[in-house]
Amino acid sequence: MIIRGVELQHVCGVSSRFPETELPEIAFAGRSNVGKSSLINALLNRKSLARTSAKPGKTQTINYYHVLGDTELFLVDLPGYGYTTAAVEIRQQWGKMIERYLRQSIDLRAVLLLLDIRHAPSANDRQMYDWICAQGFTPLLVATKQDKIGRNQIAKQLRLIRQTLKTEPGTEIIPFSSLSKAGRDELWEKLEEIGNRPRRTRLL
Ligand code: GTP
Ligand code: MG
Repeated sequence: MIIRGVELQHVCGVSSRFPETELPEIAFAGRSNVGKSSLINALLNRKSLARTSAKPGKTQTINYYHVLGDTELFLVDLPGYGYTTAAVEIRQQWGKMIERYLRQSIDLRAVLLLLDIRHAPSANDRQMYDWICAQGFTPLLVATKQDKIGRNQIAKQLRLIRQTLKTEPGTEIIPFSSLSKAGRDELWEKLEEIGNRPRRTRLL
């Protein structure tokens, strides 16, 4: 993928109406701190376009990054779930906003679910996985922070993730590192293919 331009074009909060972008949208879901914003930066070769933080709960809005390249699309950064220090009502509002986005966005082509390669998915991750499936999408799994484990551990951890989520046959999982950029080319190849998929014909 040759990228000619990137711009943060829309920012949506809990009471926003979602824009009709009329371009393929690819969303990034996952618990807080798993590396969603870092992955978007790594894909776009930018250091801090998407704001990241060592403290969970950095992204609190739905951020649409317009990408102009061989393919034109939007990468959509979602707030993380499982951020326990946020007030309960705030967490519920974010959850509802994410749900609403996944249900209402006619241009959404795929949802990537990010999981930390070091750990078994949590109950929240399992819920998110099932929820994405219930919206008619097959989640594309990305196992983040691959640089934090040894090469000989990768296959075992990917198996653990699959088993814990009870993935459907055919579910893909790509190990990734925002630090070393491992998995970046493979992921772009996948995203370009997703970008060429037809639009959802109806909303659930
Ligand atoms: P929220 O916005 O809170 O939902 O978090 P997020 O999922 O966007 O996570 P973010 O990208 O802000 O990253 C969280 C922390 O993990 C930061 O300190 C990153 O530097 C670190 N991190 C992200 N990806 C990687 C990776 O591939 N390798 C390593 N070693 N650290 C990473
Ligand atoms: Mg973030």
